[in-house]
Parts: sequence; structure tokens; C-alpha cells
Amino acid sequence: MALIATESNTPALHEPMLPRPFRVTSKQSETLDTVTLEFEVADDGPPLAFLPGQFTMLYIYGVGEVPISICGDPNHPERLIHTVRAVGAVTNAICALAPGEMVGIRGPFGTGWPVTEGKDLVIVAGGIGLAPVRPLIYHALANRDRYFCLGLAYGSRSPSELLYRSELEAWNELPDFNLQMTVDKGNDTWRGSIGVVTPLIPRLRCEAKETIAVVCGPEVMMKVVARALNASGVARDNIYLSLERNMKCGIGFCGHCQFGSDFICKDGPVFPYSEVAQRLGVRSL
Ligand SMILES: Cc1cc2nc3c(=O)[nH]c(=O)nc-3n(C[C@H](O)[C@H](O)[C@H](O)COP(=O)(O)OP(=O)(O)OC[C@H]3O[C@@H](n4cnc5c(N)ncnc54)[C@H](O)[C@@H]3O)c2cc1C
Ligand code: FES
Repeated sequence: MALIATESNTPALHEPMLPRPFRVTSKQSETLDTVTLEFEVADDGPPLAFLPGQFTMLYIYGVGEVPISICGDPNHPERLIHTVRAVGAVTNAICALAPGEMVGIRGPFGTGWPVTEGKDLVIVAGGIGLAPVRPLIYHALANRDRYFCLGLAYGSRSPSELLYRSELEAWNELPDFNLQMTVDKGNDTWRGSIGVVTPLIPRLRCEAKETIAVVCGPEVMMKVVARALNASGVARDNIYLSLERNMKCGIGFCGHCQFGSDFICKDGPVFPYSEVAQRLGVRSL
């Protein structure tokens, strides 16, 4: 069964435009410009139950609001986790938060990754693209017997820019999880691959015809990886990508995230490659 978040399987959002108060409970530095923050609900409401691949709108009071993927374990929604790279005003303010500080959060929004069972699952991530796929990895590991081959190909610019390094080490020790990593530029201690992520995919040794593939990273990387997966025999309908555009409302009202006939906030961010192949890389859509 392929599970994509829809109005019928996601919790009702009573006030989707009203941020709820959340408190930072912990902060961990991932790289020079990226941190992972954990939040707890600071009102009487329930935690944010979410599907792997969904995002929230995270509001820093007096600065602004941005979409950020949820990267924690969907079985533990009480621990709301976000990994954020500082690229501008709002993300810099998020990365400067300290435990105890408050933010406003709306969501969860958007479609989720497919959690199709009885198949091989290939996950390909680039850079901070590992964050949005991490809930799917948790889900697949928690339900390992429901998948055949399970593999992650992860590429990063350098060893110091790999996210979740202790977790990668733990996953690498698992007998039934095939982790392949590469970096653009190594260092004295790096013993892994050097170069782009596509050559890692055959090393996952999954059966193309039985594969569901999810891809997350810069759009140009997703385009190249999706083409390579399709050329190796994975059907376009079975390749899923997560797209990014600037957002304002997050719920399909304002049109900021329009992507041809779709709104990325509502119809995405996860789309089958078959639906978006012609539109990838066209910024003016
Ligand atoms: C569905 C979704 C999930 C996301 N998940 C994460 C996440 O888990 N972690 C994370 O760090 N970021 C994530 N982003 C990207 C994040 O929302 C942007 O980095 C943020 O909006 C930038 O806001 P800012 O005010 O800090 O910078 P701005 O001043 O708005 O922008 C700074 C620079 O970043 C570029 N930029 C802004 N927004 C985007 C975007 N959406 N995609 C690509 N470039 C952009 C701008 O063109 C500019 O060059 C996600 C975006 C979407 C749409
Ligand atoms: S952000 Fe408003 S329609 Fe998508």
C-alpha cells in the first residue's frame, strides 16, 4: 500500500494559519551552518502527528516564517525535530535559538513519502536532503520485515558536512541496511567514495523493477538521480522527489509556491517523478 498524506489520513488542522507555541528543548550542531533542534508543545494541545516527508511552517516572532521538513521519528511525534541550514534572515534566527526559547509552529503540511510495503526501498539524499528522508528511514527500520532490499545512498560536499554522523555510523553497522556514502572532496581521514551520488545506486543492489525510490536534495541533483534510476529500470511512477519553492501560507491559499498547475505546499512537496519530470529546473513556473 502506498501511503501519501491526504485530507483523509492526516489529523484535522483546526486553525491552519494560527501558529502554536513550541519550546526549544535541545540543540545540536551538525555542521558549521546547520543545527538540529528539538521542540516540545507549549500549549494544552496534542503533539504534531506527522507522516514522513511532511513539513511545518516555523515562525520566529518578529522575524518571519519558513517551511522546514520534520526530520524526527513519526512514531515519536512528541519529539518534534527540525534540522535547519542558515541561509537567510529566518533560518539564521532559527539556528541562533537556544533551549528554552519559544517559536510558533503551524502544520504538519503537505504530502508524505510513499511507505509502500513489500518492495525494495532505495533512498537517495544529497546534503541537507537527508533531513526530510530521515523519518522514512526510521519508519522503514521500525518495519524492516515489510521491505526487501533497503538502502541509502548519501552524498555530501565534504566529510564535515555530513549530517547525523553518529547515526550514520550506527546505520552502517546494521546487517540489513545498505548505506553508501560519497563526498565531493575528501580529507585525510575519509575512506569512502569521492564524487557524485549516482554511481552509489547500483551498489545498493536492489531490484529495479521492485523498487520504490525516494530522492531528496538540490533540484539539479534530483533531476540527474531520477533520470539514472529510470534508466536503470525503476518506473517513473515509483520515483518520488521532494520539491522546494518559497512559501507563505503553506496551505494552498496564497499562490507563492505555484508550480505549473500544482501548489507545492498542498499538492507536494513530495511528487512522483512521472508528474514533475517536464517541470524540473524551470524556475519561472
Ligand atoms: C517543503 C520545504 C521543506 C524545507 N525543509 C527544510 C529543512 O528541513 N531545512 C532547511 O534548512 N531548509 C528547508 N527548506 C528551505 C527553507 O524553507 C529556506 O531555506 C528558507 O525559507 C529560507 O528563508 P530565509 O529567510 O532564511 O532566507 P531568504 O532570505 O528567504 O533566502 C536566502 C537564500 O536562500 C534561497 N532560498 C529561500 N528559500 C528557498 C527554498 N525553499 N529553496 C531553495 N532556496 C531557497 C533564496 O533564494 C536566497 O538565496 C525547506 C523548504 C521547503 C519548501
Ligand atoms: S504557500 Fe501559499 S499556496 Fe503554497
